[in-house]
Amino acid sequence: MGKLIEVDRVKKVYKKRKTKERITAVDHVSFHVNKGEILGLLGPNGAGKTTTIKMICGLLVPDEGNVMIHGYDIVKDRLKALRHISAVLEGNRNLYWRLTVKENLEYFAGNRGFGRREITPKIEELLVRFRLKEKENELVNNLSRGMQQKLAIAVAMMADTDIILLDEPTLGLDVETGYEVRKLLRYITEEEGKTIIISTHDMPVVQDLCHRTVIINKGKVVADEKVDQLIQLFDTRAYTIKLGDPLTDKQVLELQQAFPMYEYGDRLLNVTLEQENDIYLLMDILRGNQTKIEKIDRTAVNFEEVFMKLVKGAGEYEKVPSSS
Ligand SMILES: Nc1ncnc2c1ncn2[C@@H]1O[C@H](COP(=O)(O)OP(=O)(O)O)[C@@H](O)[C@H]1O
Ligand SMILES: [Mg+2]
Repeated sequence: MGKLIEVDRVKKVYKKRKTKERITAVDHVSFHVNKGEILGLLGPNGAGKTTTIKMICGLLVPDEGNVMIHGYDIVKDRLKALRHISAVLEGNRNLYWRLTVKENLEYFAGNRGFGRREITPKIEELLVRFRLKEKENELVNNLSRGMQQKLAIAVAMMADTDIILLDEPTLGLDVETGYEVRKLLRYITEEEGKTIIISTHDMPVVQDLCHRTVIINKGKVVADEKVDQLIQLFDTRAYTIKLGDPLTDKQVLELQQAFPMYEYGDRLLNVTLEQENDIYLLMDILRGNQTKIEKIDRTAVNFEEVFMKLVKGAGEYEKVPSSS
């Protein structure tokens, strides 16, 4: 499978006009997306997701590094690269607020060179599937935020590009609309051959829809892995240990230094090892005071915990060798 999108060490620094403060929003981020792949770009607020997406679709020029789309540099070969991309960004910038729902769909399809006869059935299908049929003659301006979001996604479908970028598609939607949008996203991701990046901090979206996830935090990639492999990796390193004796202050200090991601209370120790071999180091710390061990269990972790550990934890994790 060819790499359709290649993000290579991109960096973006914002300068605040008033204070002249410099914020490194994206700090040498690299990843790629294969043809037909659905990639989740996951990270907490302020991680640099939107900035990354904007660099991929050419709305922002990176200070360093570059982005290749189908082998075209998004800066140097902008038009050729853009021919392959549609993007749904925050604030639904891809819609015309003074046109109706249907006019927006027609306009954007026409824009991509499709003839009216060709697009009419497609528009009908999208209007029904996205439950926008009864609003087809309504101005975008008068739609609810959820409906605008759905229309923005429909417009991206209408353009029929092989790459779709979706920035936080479920952000700020009520539960019901969020669920509906997720269902629509599944439909899009099942559409054959599309290559999609979904940026989000909504973990169910990633678990439900994405083949792989790139997790970023403070402008840096902290994980690039298949979702199930990521969970597996942490599963084999998370332990719950029931101790017979309380730990001494010295032991707690040693634990803190060796395993920043640990929790201790009431003789129960939860610890995530950075490498599997660290279990010996852990045992050494416990043995130091002949602490009795009553029980050791591997903790089953879920995706949310993995995410929290990566985002709170110290820097980059060690990648599993088998991953692609
Ligand atoms: N136009 C801007 N001017 C100054 N700082 C910005 C601007 N846009 C984003 N930032 C800052 O850059 C960082 C990354 O922002 P962003 O890419 O929007 O993150 P995310 O989408 O993951 O929430 C944040 O610290 C944010 O405050
Ligand atoms: Mg954002």
